[in-house]
Amino acid sequence: MQTKQLTVTELNIEHLPLVMGLQSKIIANLDKDEKHFILERSVEDFMRALSNGNTHMIGVFDGDKLIAQSMFDFPQAGQNRDLSEFAGETGNEDLVIYKATLVDVDYRGRGLMQKLLAYREAKARAAGKTTAISQIAVDNPASWINALKNGMSIRKVDHDPEDQAKVLYMRKDFYDLPHIPTAAGEGFSMRIGQDIKKEIPALFNKMRYFAARGYYGVGFDRRDNSIVWTKAGGRTENEALNRRIVLLGARGKTIRI
Ligand SMILES: CC(C)(COP(=O)(O)OP(=O)(O)OC[C@H]1O[C@@H](n2cnc3c(N)ncnc32)[C@H](O)[C@@H]1OP(=O)(O)O)[C@@H](O)C(=O)NCCC(=O)NCCS
Repeated sequence: MQTKQLTVTELNIEHLPLVMGLQSKIIANLDKDEKHFILERSVEDFMRALSNGNTHMIGVFDGDKLIAQSMFDFPQAGQNRDLSEFAGETGNEDLVIYKATLVDVDYRGRGLMQKLLAYREAKARAAGKTTAISQIAVDNPASWINALKNGMSIRKVDHDPEDQAKVLYMRKDFYDLPHIPTAAGEGFSMRIGQDIKKEIPALFNKMRYFAARGYYGVGFDRRDNSIVWTKAGGRTENEALNRRIVLLGARGKTIRI
């Protein structure tokens, strides 16, 4: 398909008709058993979100056509936040919560989601955030493989408390070293099989088992279609010290020891 110059823009209420149009197109293209991949939002939901000051939306345009959109929250200190069942030890002031990313079916597989993830992270860092979290359906590998590629890791595997969907909770600490196994014995691979929908029940149980035992899902290996897991922790004293120093620099004033 011929594309014009692609541009990334912060979206506002004036973009609502385009936002609704893209959402409808994406939902119409999801299979019946994929509808839980995204939360369908009404015009009122978008209006509320875009006017509350904490929710941000960015869009990618091909000329004047909206072809991808992504939403994220900067929760304020002391507020109730989404995904409160996850990362409770991290203060709202440090957190960015990644929400739905939608890419027009005609523009998939060209790296747009990666672009949006990088853009969201840059915005979050500029706002003084140190940690990103998100929740993704287990049977949506397009979404969580992308998140893994962006450096997020799987930390918790559970049922969503509201609709009981099987979900992954993912996290990225912007100032941490990547949790990539560097020596034999530090990590292992878990094949996801060729037909993810068929594999989900077993995969969910295996992932849940390892996440509950302190393993992080940190990467995806295309060669054998597997998730790479590594044992959390194990950070040396020097690395931990470095993290504190970097955090001091990033946050300007707060000391976290
Ligand atoms: C998930 C979604 C946003 C991905 O957008 P995208 O722009 O096509 O993704 P990108 O081109 O940036 O990423 C491509 C990578 O994603 C992964 N990927 C994309 N589609 C995939 C699929 N169907 N199965 C497995 N992996 C897939 C691959 O790792 C690919 O990397 P590769 O090129 O190295 O193989 C898009 O498929 C979408 O809008 N889906 C419907 C809505 C949705 O589920 N949103 C996510 C919920 S928050």
